[in-house]
Amino acid sequence: MINTEAYDKEKLRKKIKRSLDHRRYNHTLGVAYTAAALAMRYNEDIEKAEVAGLLHDCAKCMDAEDMLVLCDKHRINVTDVERRNPFLLHAKLGGFMAMQTYNVNDKQIISAIINHTTGRPDMNMLEKILLIADYIEPNRMKAPRLKEIRHMAFSEIDKALVLILGDTLDYLNSIQGEKDDMTQKTFDYYSALQKENING
Ligand SMILES: [Fe+2]
Ligand SMILES: [Fe+2]
Repeated sequence: MINTEAYDKEKLRKKIKRSLDHRRYNHTLGVAYTAAALAMRYNEDIEKAEVAGLLHDCAKCMDAEDMLVLCDKHRINVTDVERRNPFLLHAKLGGFMAMQTYNVNDKQIISAIINHTTGRPDMNMLEKILLIADYIEPNRMKAPRLKEIRHMAFSEIDKALVLILGDTLDYLNSIQGEKDDMTQKTFDYYSALQKENING
């Protein structure tokens, strides 16, 4: 794969640091280098993975009301679930801000940021890498089965996706949290794919 765009990552890091709290910034750095490592493993563009990691939560520390205002202003579609839980918007809005505020226009990077919380059926490799890096980066401690999932991420990436999405759905059910339908759709798609691979 030819890398056509060079990014000033030092500048990106400094700028992103100013918009995030300390904990979120550390998480961001963890996601960036975990995504880069996964990109090495799966022969994906390392720099794109790192930039996607640096920017994936760039809208995370915004005020909920500001998020809704910004979405309405820029005609970003907001579902009823998102209107009730504006923090869910940080992925969509993050994709928008990556372009507007950070001048990153690579379609793959933007799409990976937009889809990093719920995934989507039939993801490309960069999208898978970012979703997984977000879940397994070294500062994450609380999720169950992390050891197994971290190992799986570097051996069978689609299997790791099924574990992550399944555990996410279980967690949201356990706290009776509202969830984006897409998380279930992505889980169903990759579970079916797993079964096909086992049976076929
Ligand atoms: Fe996020
Ligand atoms: Fe994140």
